[in-house]
Amino acid sequence: MSATEASAVTSVGVLDSGVGGLSVVAAMQRAMPALPVRYIADTARFPYGDRTPEEVAERTLALGARLIDEGCVLLVVACNTASSAALELLRERFDVPIVGMEPPLKPAAERTRSGHVAVLATAGTTEGERLARLYESFAGDREVLTVPMPGLADLVEAGEIAGPRVEAILEASATDLRAHEVDEVALGCTHYAFLRDALSGMLGPDVEIIDTAEPVARRVRQQLAAHSLAIPDGEPVAAECTATGGAGPFEETLARLRAAGADLPMLEVVQEVVA
Ligand code: DGL
Repeated sequence: MSATEASAVTSVGVLDSGVGGLSVVAAMQRAMPALPVRYIADTARFPYGDRTPEEVAERTLALGARLIDEGCVLLVVACNTASSAALELLRERFDVPIVGMEPPLKPAAERTRSGHVAVLATAGTTEGERLARLYESFAGDREVLTVPMPGLADLVEAGEIAGPRVEAILEASATDLRAHEVDEVALGCTHYAFLRDALSGMLGPDVEIIDTAEPVARRVRQQLAAHSLAIPDGEPVAAECTATGGAGPFEETLARLRAAGADLPMLEVVQEVVA
C-alpha cells in the first residue's frame, strides 16, 4: 500500500496515570498537529508508582482495551511505570501497534563524560525488571544512580511544578547527583518532564537532562507509517482527554499547570467519568 493509499487514522490512544503523558502528547502534536488523540488519565488510581506491578498491569490492560474499543489504531503507553509493568502483556493481548516508554539510560550512558549517570523515576520503575534489563544492556562500566523521587509525581499531579515543596525534593536529589559527579540525567517518569527547567536550573549547564517525549513522538510517526496508517494534514486538533477521577479535578490541575507555564498540548477534557 502506498502512502497515498494508506487507510485513515481514526485516532491514537494515549494513557498515563495522570497529567504526565500530556508531555508526550505535546511532542506528538508538535510533530503531527492534525493527528487525533484520545487520552486517558487514570487519576482515580494515581499514583501508579506506589502500586504493585500486577495492579498497574491490570489497569493498563483495561484502559488499553477501552481505547481500542473506541477505535484507536495505535496505543501509546505514556507512562514509564505502566510500560515497565505491562508492555509485554499489552503486546500479547492486542493487535494494534503499541509504543511504550523506558528511561533513556542508553543515550545517557553513551553521552556521559564523567562516567556517572542518573535515572530519576518512580519506585515502580526503579524496582522494575525493565530497568534492570536496560542496566544490563547499556550501563557497561558507567555508574548508574537510580533515584526514586517519592512524592514528586504527586506534586506535579496537583499542578505544582515550582515553589518550595518541589524545590526541596529536587534539591535533595541534586545534592546526591553532584556528589556522584553525574553529568547525564535520564528522566524516567513522564510527570518529571514538567520539572525539566527547575531541575536544569539547579544542576547547571554542564548536566544534560534527557527526556523521551520527542523520541516517542518520532516512534509513533514511524509506527503509523510502518502500518500504513495515514497521518492527517490540516488544522491542528485538540487531544480529547478523559480523567477516571472526574473532569473537574483534572481541569483544576491543568489550570494550575498552565498558570505555572507548563508546556501543555492543545486539549479538551471530556465531561465523563470512567471507572
Ligand atoms: N507518569 C508515570 C511514569 O511515567 C508515573 C506517575 C505515577 O506514579 O503514577 O512513570
